[in-house]
Amino acid sequence: MCGIFAYLNYLTPKSRHEVLDLLVNGLKRLEYRGYDSTGVAIDSSENKDIVMVKRCGKVKVLEDAIAEHFSGHEFDAPVMTHVGIAHTRWATHGVPCETNSHPQRSDEGNSFVVVHNGIVTNYKDVKTFLEKRGYVFESDTDTEVIAKLVHHLWKKHPGYSFRELVEQVIQQLEGAFAIAIKSKHFPGECVASRRGSPLLVGIKTKTRLSTDHIPILYGKDDKSPQTCEKEHRPHGQTRDLSVLPRNESTSEFMPLEGKEVEYFFASDASAVIEHTNRVIYLEDDDVAAVRDGALSIHRLKKCLDDPHAREITTLKMEIQQIMKGNYAYFMLKEIFEQPESVVNTMRGRVRFDTKTVVLGGIKDFIPEIKRCRRLMLIGCGTSYHSAVATRQLLEELTELPVMVELASDFLDRNTPIFRDDVCFFISQSGETADSLMALRYCKQRGALIVGITNTVGSSICRESHCGVHINAGPEIGVASTKAYTSQFISLVMFALVMSEDRLSLQQRRLEIIQALFKLPDQIRLVLKLDNQVQELAKDLYHHKSLLIMGRGYNFATCLEGALKVKELTYMHSEGIMAGELKHGPLALIDDRMPVMMIVLRDPVYVKCINALQQVTSRKGCPIIVCEEGDEETKSFSSRSLEIPRTVDCLQGILTVIPMQLLSYHIAVLRGCDVDCPRNLAKSVTVE
Ligand code: AGP
Repeated sequence: MCGIFAYLNYLTPKSRHEVLDLLVNGLKRLEYRGYDSTGVAIDSSENKDIVMVKRCGKVKVLEDAIAEHFSGHEFDAPVMTHVGIAHTRWATHGVPCETNSHPQRSDEGNSFVVVHNGIVTNYKDVKTFLEKRGYVFESDTDTEVIAKLVHHLWKKHPGYSFRELVEQVIQQLEGAFAIAIKSKHFPGECVASRRGSPLLVGIKTKTRLSTDHIPILYGKDDKSPQTCEKEHRPHGQTRDLSVLPRNESTSEFMPLEGKEVEYFFASDASAVIEHTNRVIYLEDDDVAAVRDGALSIHRLKKCLDDPHAREITTLKMEIQQIMKGNYAYFMLKEIFEQPESVVNTMRGRVRFDTKTVVLGGIKDFIPEIKRCRRLMLIGCGTSYHSAVATRQLLEELTELPVMVELASDFLDRNTPIFRDDVCFFISQSGETADSLMALRYCKQRGALIVGITNTVGSSICRESHCGVHINAGPEIGVASTKAYTSQFISLVMFALVMSEDRLSLQQRRLEIIQALFKLPDQIRLVLKLDNQVQELAKDLYHHKSLLIMGRGYNFATCLEGALKVKELTYMHSEGIMAGELKHGPLALIDDRMPVMMIVLRDPVYVKCINALQQVTSRKGCPIIVCEEGDEETKSFSSRSLEIPRTVDCLQGILTVIPMQLLSYHIAVLRGCDVDCPRNLAKSVTVE
């Protein structure tokens, strides 16, 4: 996944230094999306040429290069209208290097420059088409074909507007993209579009916006939109450019003509919120164009379910939510936010006085869900682990078969899906490609789709029939922490809703609701173990591997803990089902192998003690996570972490926190970048 950001000031004086600061700051907000190379493009000071600065490495490297490159006073002069675009990359095509970083350009004169998030799957066809017409490519990226195709069409159709050129281009592209483009031939204009990758437009005006909607303009005659069934072009076929229909919009919508206005195009809201909370979430195949200060949104054809306008929504996010505060890293902040984030997840949903639970986003679908034949929980990584963590409780309280699936494997198997299935898609970002592809697979087969996401306006959120927003607040650290515990609790709340009329389950429900009430304070108590965990990290950080064992309600914690250790410290780690120990993993145990074991007083306690005895009898020296005051269990080892007692099905919320802290401290000791681990991105928007 990459981060794209563009800023357009119209009749609003800004120096190019100010524009560059805005672009760099926007990239910093998006850096968690990808951080192997970066770049910006602005107007040069002498003329309308475009100048670019691109660097391999993180945004800070670019920031230093910009300070060096744009040091002249000419960049201090205010400019009334200007477009700047910027990009932070997570490489998919072409190694991280300056040439492959964005913006990518059409020619040596920088006539058209583009920033792109996503993958153009038919870029080789388009590249061949352009090479036959004399274009020479300089990068290994798929993105470069976009800039050169715009240039080719501009030469071929000199009368086309900038927006019309981009409309022609996106019809040739297969795959996923979110793009922003600027051109020296269309100064002061910016055109953006998306398909399968998120993109929003922030609007900042001195006077209050006179409208809450931007009408969508369709087809040749904007007054009588063409309607169509969703067209499905066979994959990979590239039409001959010469026969594409032209969208000759005669009257473009000018909501803000002639007024001072600033536009912010960004991959997500965290880069926009400090400037404006008025945003439009673009939909697939929207083309947003700003010309003479006016924003218009275009679609080539009106399909039956398309609305007539795009709503200007007001972001609820607060800027401090995306700041690090006094923490060294976003991840540490997000770990320590969990007493509050779990409250936010339950807020307005769990009524502790009446012991009831209401989930507004799915309540109308509960009768249908109760009639389903099975529940399928589908996700990736940490989100998948939240499904594993709650599966047993869901089976108990819904009395339905519950399948948990890794989205990638689910798709590989072409898993049979039926109209009476209910499929949950769990995703913090709501943009994970594997999960989104699995959602569309299930939706096409008639299943009911329930989204469990943390990002408003995300693709999974918008494509679900119903869902639950986990309300964990923006999670910036690439390693997911507070989103996991909020996903966990959201699924527990769903189980409580599904069993509200089961008399035989009322005592169990009451026990769980009472435990949820105590949870925030118990999380605070576990967070107080931080220093103890830090000491344990000193014992572990120089090792090559760490085994984490448990079973029942705590097996998910072993998987999640192992993932945290892997992705943050680059150490090998494995979550092991304790019941499997005898079937192989026991061979790993000796007095040198680092082991953690979760042994809590729950229905599988005796079996866990059995596993503990097997490990210690092979000279294993496990670190034990056990309940406060459990002297018997503690007696098996000299190192233990004691956590407060809670109902069995919620133990996983408390046992995961020491794992989060441990992975954090080991990462710091190993000198790893906690918020931006190598090779990873916050949301994997490519399959
Ligand atoms: C978790 O720490 C990782 N960042 C990763 O496994 C992540 O959970 C996974 O990519 C799924 O992301 P999503 O929740 O945004 O779909």
